[in-house]
Amino acid sequence: MEKLFITGGTPLQGKVTISGAKNSAVALIPAALLADGPVVIDNLPHIQDVDIYVELLKEMGADVLFEEDWMEIDGRALTLDVMPNGRVKKLRASYYLWGALLGKFGEARVGLPGGCDLGPRPVDLHIKGFEALGAVVTNQNGVMTIKAPGRLRGARIYLDLVSVGATINIMLAATKAEGLTIIENAAREPEIVDVATLLNNMGANIKGAGTDVIRIQGVDQLRGCRHTIIPDRIEAGTYMIAAAATRGDVTLENVIPKHLEPISAKLREIGVTVINEDDTVRVIGAENYRAVDVKTSPYPGFPTDLQQPMTALLTAAKGSSIITDNIYGARFRHVDELRRMGATIKVEGRSALIDGGGKLLGARVVASDLRAGAALVVAGLMTEGGVTEIEGLEHIDRGYENLVRKLRHLGATVRRLEVVKRTGHQ
Ligand code: UD1
Repeated sequence: MEKLFITGGTPLQGKVTISGAKNSAVALIPAALLADGPVVIDNLPHIQDVDIYVELLKEMGADVLFEEDWMEIDGRALTLDVMPNGRVKKLRASYYLWGALLGKFGEARVGLPGGCDLGPRPVDLHIKGFEALGAVVTNQNGVMTIKAPGRLRGARIYLDLVSVGATINIMLAATKAEGLTIIENAAREPEIVDVATLLNNMGANIKGAGTDVIRIQGVDQLRGCRHTIIPDRIEAGTYMIAAAATRGDVTLENVIPKHLEPISAKLREIGVTVINEDDTVRVIGAENYRAVDVKTSPYPGFPTDLQQPMTALLTAAKGSSIITDNIYGARFRHVDELRRMGATIKVEGRSALIDGGGKLLGARVVASDLRAGAALVVAGLMTEGGVTEIEGLEHIDRGYENLVRKLRHLGATVRRLEVVKRTGHQ
């Protein structure tokens, strides 16, 4: 087993380059399968979710080449085998295979997805969307079979809840449907715009991505193309929070500052200086921070994916902060671990009540999910004594490219070591 060992107390300083967006990558890769020719995606991050997708695609017969930071995907040799379990369960975003295969073959048989355990994560809106397009959906023994009797037909689909996954999945399925599909109350995340941009470059006709009404006029054929993925706003937000938490001075390169505005605004509110340039953001920490309330909501609100790292930062703000997760109300498994490090936090319903201003100390902690892991890394960097040992790195590896290298480059004392797991009495 590998663990991270962090000795905190050093302000992060310098420059860090942000990788391509994980949540775009896991949608762009299946989207590329819809093309009748090779698609090249540039700036793809080397993270586990991407690696699992590559293995999945190869298993399904696609030609995939993943070099340095670009990937060529040719889905022409793809076969319509059942993808019941195994790799499909290793990542949440394997659900995009439903929309991509349905769009390509009029049929998909894929196991239910896995991913971070954030409490219940239903997929009813995805199913509702596919059914509106004319598909019949059945779920037997954990395998979803989605089948259209003929060509999918465009439809008007109102999403009861704003869902990133359902919006993208419906877009994937509807791209080659007959006629016009209108998604109302669509999610507006930048990753949705990125997927629509790729599909349009492939020859699709999608308008309105980034607003809450997306119009997809079905086309007969899609072609190969080249596309550069957007920067990862969640990875960027994690480094912004870490810079603030260590009272450092960090410049993030390869970012779209507008995508980071919900985070920048919150950081400024607590007393951090955030300076935007064209494609960089500089974050300068301060000695004292103000307690604030944070509520997560769909983009352009404060992202649920940064709720956990933000909780760690708010332990440094004197007074009472409340952080409420309106998207995943049970996403608080990091709190017990932060308490081990000395934080005073109480969870009530969907909220964490943080009594900040005390010191954090190194402790042995476990990352229960991807962003819980990010929160523990931030907390480890904040400690003023002791060493933080983090296990559960398989979660962190799903979403952070070169985490140790990037942190060390910023001056952090972080090591990743293989340790022998202790068993029995201690
Ligand atoms: C995506 C992101 C994830 C992020 C989340 C919210 C990817 C791969 N993952 O997840 O990192 O935390 O958006 O920004 O992009 N819901 C339903 N029924 C559905 C679908 C969703 O009730 O059919 C609910 C969910 O339980 C949740 C809310 O809607 O409360 C939003 O979920 P959604 O936007 O779909 O999240 P994901 O796409 O799974």
